[in-house]
Amino acid sequence: MDGEPAAGFGLYLHWPYCRAKCPYCDFNSHVAAGIDQHRWLAAYRSEIARLAAETGSRTLSTVFIGGGTPSLMAPELVAGLLEAVRAAWPMSNDPEITLEANPTSVESSRFRAYRDAGVNRVSVGLQALDDDALRLLGRQHCASEGRAAFALARQVFPRASFDLIYARQHQTAAAWRAELAAALALEPDHLSLYQLTIEDGTPFAARVAAGRMSGLPDDDRAAEMWDITQELCGAAGLPAYEISNHARPGHACRHNLIYWECGDFAGIGPGAHGRLTLNGSRLATEGHRDPAKWLQEVEARGNGESRRAALAPTEAAEERVLMGLRLADGIAIGRGSGPAGAINFGRADALEALGLLERAGDRLRVTPQGRLLLDRIIIELLAA
Ligand SMILES: C[S@@+](CC[C@H](N)C(=O)[O-])C[C@H]1O[C@@H](n2cnc3c(N)ncnc32)[C@H](O)[C@@H]1O
Ligand code: SF4
Repeated sequence: MDGEPAAGFGLYLHWPYCRAKCPYCDFNSHVAAGIDQHRWLAAYRSEIARLAAETGSRTLSTVFIGGGTPSLMAPELVAGLLEAVRAAWPMSNDPEITLEANPTSVESSRFRAYRDAGVNRVSVGLQALDDDALRLLGRQHCASEGRAAFALARQVFPRASFDLIYARQHQTAAAWRAELAAALALEPDHLSLYQLTIEDGTPFAARVAAGRMSGLPDDDRAAEMWDITQELCGAAGLPAYEISNHARPGHACRHNLIYWECGDFAGIGPGAHGRLTLNGSRLATEGHRDPAKWLQEVEARGNGESRRAALAPTEAAEERVLMGLRLADGIAIGRGSGPAGAINFGRADALEALGLLERAGDRLRVTPQGRLLLDRIIIELLAA
């Protein structure tokens, strides 16, 4: 077993299509007509076989079908995919198999078929519980469709999560408090709460640049909304286990924990990233971003990867700091090896004195006060 990290082994599959492109989104997602799902299934199967030839002795504990909008995949495509996955790798006793779903009524009508295909966890993109806000975000569903989709998800799947975006245009702190309270009343076991990020190259970024995006919260209001988020989720029994992710104890997303704990995962699909420890070296892989190009390369060459490179030990150590400090539990810093090699301990002492970092036993973590400054803290810690 090649000395791979202990965090487990997962598989990420990327479905790159959406019904419409949301104006805030910079994920590798595209709108296209006439998608041949049989062709996609054949390509995914081919990639599963290629990666299994390298890693097939490992036990797979998680599968995550993300996008894009995987709930636009025909249930037969998902069933065919998961059948190929089960044939390729031994699975753990209780694998976590997640699919990201958008909450239009058409998509939620497929939930039972996805469950029958083997999916046991869904992550529903509610984004907001307010119709005006959903319109501003360019979403294809209204709030009542979102609520109905999540209620159905809870009935159909053993585990269900949803995403919300806050710190939106014209949103007050009081409005966010009320919306989050309503969201928590849906009794999720897990939820992902993201502050709206204006991503370069998106229509929202163009509107900001043109001065046509009024009512975005300033830093103080965004910080206030962050505090409300921690307060309400904590009181409801879903504290943050990662910067944007909240769960009841035992309900964290195991697949995403593999990312944050720097375990190994195979990445399949356009733009999908992977991390594999093979022959003692940690490899970073990436698929061709353009869906047509990816498909063509898989069909013509039997390989959709655009990049495969060994990470230098310093890069791997930096990645462990960067990813691990997102977790509320932080990282283990054994002496002289692993992430410790990347940390500037002089800076760590200074950040600890400011109350932004703390050491408990051999663990280093960002304090609740430091969380909002995480990006800055990481830059300081990794400074030479
Ligand atoms: C892969 S995306 C979307 C999954 C699904 N297609 C959907 O839209 O519901 C995962 C999540 O990232 C979040 N997200 C995407 N772009 C964002 C942005 N610019 N700012 C904050 N959150 C964002 C959304 O909450 C979204 O549900
Ligand atoms: S937010 Fe979701 S539905 Fe909207 S474009 Fe991005 S991936 Fe597609």
